[in-house]
Amino acid sequence: MTQLTVQDTFAQFEQQVRDVLAQQGTLRETIDGVRPYFQELLKDERLVPAEYRQPLPDKYAQYLLYRPEDDAFSIVAFVWGAGQTAPIHDHLTWGLVGIYEGQIEETRYRRLKQADASGNDFLEEVNKVQPSKGEISFVYPPDHDIHGVSNPFAAPAITVHIYGTDIGKQERFLYDPESSSTRQIVTKHRNEQPLYATREEQAE
Ligand SMILES: [Fe+2]
Repeated sequence: MTQLTVQDTFAQFEQQVRDVLAQQGTLRETIDGVRPYFQELLKDERLVPAEYRQPLPDKYAQYLLYRPEDDAFSIVAFVWGAGQTAPIHDHLTWGLVGIYEGQIEETRYRRLKQADASGNDFLEEVNKVQPSKGEISFVYPPDHDIHGVSNPFAAPAITVHIYGTDIGKQERFLYDPESSSTRQIVTKHRNEQPLYATREEQAE
């Protein structure tokens, strides 16, 4: 059997995701539908080119791998140096987080209505997991959407994520667990154009 090129692998994955999206299920059903295809994609050792695998000195790196022209979803690689952290945040779209190399720590939260009259919500820690290579977790609003991610380990880690929109343009929120305040953010990719073009883009 001839192995598909990475480009064709992404194109095939795009069709699989579009078939799931066409079913117009709930966010959780979409996640469950995409998951087996994403699990398969994650096994491909070619997704993240060698020159994108090195951690940056100061901050985790965020690279856009693939994005259809209509932003129906995005596939993004994150490179986590030892000790690097993403503050607590939400996504406001569905997403799957796959461990591609190494291991990370994910702390999941849920937002609770404050019982007193302050009007502020507060965050409650739900659980903490340390997934390793090949494992997948997921997020979706409103109740499974808030987490913090870090690499507390000595070795660098790489994670590959899929989101239900271009996450590099998505307005979402950072959370301060102490004060329960939020701050709106957009976390841009380091590259404007995806590393891998769609079939349509290649044909242009
Ligand atoms: Fe996240």
